[in-house]
Amino acid sequence: MKTLRLGIIGGGLMGREAASALARWCNLVDVGVKAELTAVCDCNPAALEWFQNLPSVRKTTTDIDELLACDFVNAIYVAVPHHLHEEIYRKVVRAGKALLAEKPFGVDRAAAERILAGIREHGCFARISSEFPFWPGPQRIVEAIKSGGCGRLLQVRCGFLHASDLNPEKPINWKRQVEFCGAAGVMNDLGMHAAHIPMRLGWAPTQVYGRLQNVVDERPDGKGGMAPCDTWENALIDGVFTDAEGTSVPISIEMKRVAPGETDTWYLEVYGVDSCYRFSTKEPKTLWRFFCDGEQWWQKTDLGNTPPFKVVTPGITEFGFSDCFQQMLAAFAAEWAGTLGERFGCVTPEEAVNSHLLWEAAMRSQEEAALVKANYLS
Ligand SMILES: NC(=O)c1ccc[n+]([C@@H]2O[C@H](COP(=O)([O-])OP(=O)(O)OC[C@H]3O[C@@H](n4cnc5c(N)ncnc54)[C@H](O)[C@@H]3O)[C@@H](O)[C@H]2O)c1
Repeated sequence: MKTLRLGIIGGGLMGREAASALARWCNLVDVGVKAELTAVCDCNPAALEWFQNLPSVRKTTTDIDELLACDFVNAIYVAVPHHLHEEIYRKVVRAGKALLAEKPFGVDRAAAERILAGIREHGCFARISSEFPFWPGPQRIVEAIKSGGCGRLLQVRCGFLHASDLNPEKPINWKRQVEFCGAAGVMNDLGMHAAHIPMRLGWAPTQVYGRLQNVVDERPDGKGGMAPCDTWENALIDGVFTDAEGTSVPISIEMKRVAPGETDTWYLEVYGVDSCYRFSTKEPKTLWRFFCDGEQWWQKTDLGNTPPFKVVTPGITEFGFSDCFQQMLAAFAAEWAGTLGERFGCVTPEEAVNSHLLWEAAMRSQEEAALVKANYLS
């Protein structure tokens, strides 16, 4: 069995999440690949302290080159602010390591294309993080779509909603500033999560109407003053894609940082003539399926803990955020090792570039107050 020896660059919120998922790899029973965290790099020495007691970690360093030189690291998860993606991702692939990148995969489309060119040049295995599709509910929806269970598609709605910026007194951080987050703002930050399944199923909208909002102009800078908060905080994309039968299907993709009442809500709704499906992390165990047999029914299925990679935790229990993140890491490791099979995979670099093309179209639409065309890599 192959072993993914992962190094982490960026030991903040997501670096720790990845370390925790790797530390309980024994939870996975049929992944067909081992994985362990062997090294961590963060430019802030204080961020490294938390990792120092993890038994598998052989090196912690503030120097990226030192991490990349480790022969006990064959893959790297990079979780740093967006403006640093391009430089660090390209370094990782130049060093010949497999790359698990974070979204949005570069600060903008041009950066994403340069990262993709580097990956192709060096022939590295690279995928991008987006964990919500690994919940049991969306997995069942993807299976239903692939087997034609919805019949002719009528509409798709998906989104990722946060109330994390509802409070205008919340101090600024890099995710709220164009310089670090990128001009696409909330689309860079939350968009990949919402767009992963539509991109995978060929539902990227080719006609796009974007409505973008900047709700809070400035925030406390943590030093007694105020700092400009210049990113788009909420984005709604209404578009149309063409399905396999050549029919136009409307799709809405919603991404919000100022969404009252929403802690971390990811949802997907697919409406077809034969059946419809709804899933939201607000009701995380539940899959809703509509069908009509003379009467119109919304059937509620309690899915329990039934993720794509089997786990030791019984199926009758509950699945959670840390589980879906671990399932995504399992998909990355399995695809790297050749054991993914028919299971759903992580975002590809091409899909990540396409997501930037979609955000660009949404920003153009906002600027021109018009419906615009979006073109994608094939
Ligand atoms: N998949 C998800 O659910 C999810 C959730 C949140 C964030 N993210 C993404 O993860 C990435 C990181 O976000 P975060 O919330 O973990 O950020 P964070 O601010 O919590 O952590 C970033 C870490 O990177 C370190 N760092 C900065 N520059 C560095 C450098 N040059 N070398 C080494 N380390 C450096 C910082 O010191 C910090 O510890 C972003 O791309 C973000 O979009 C993904």
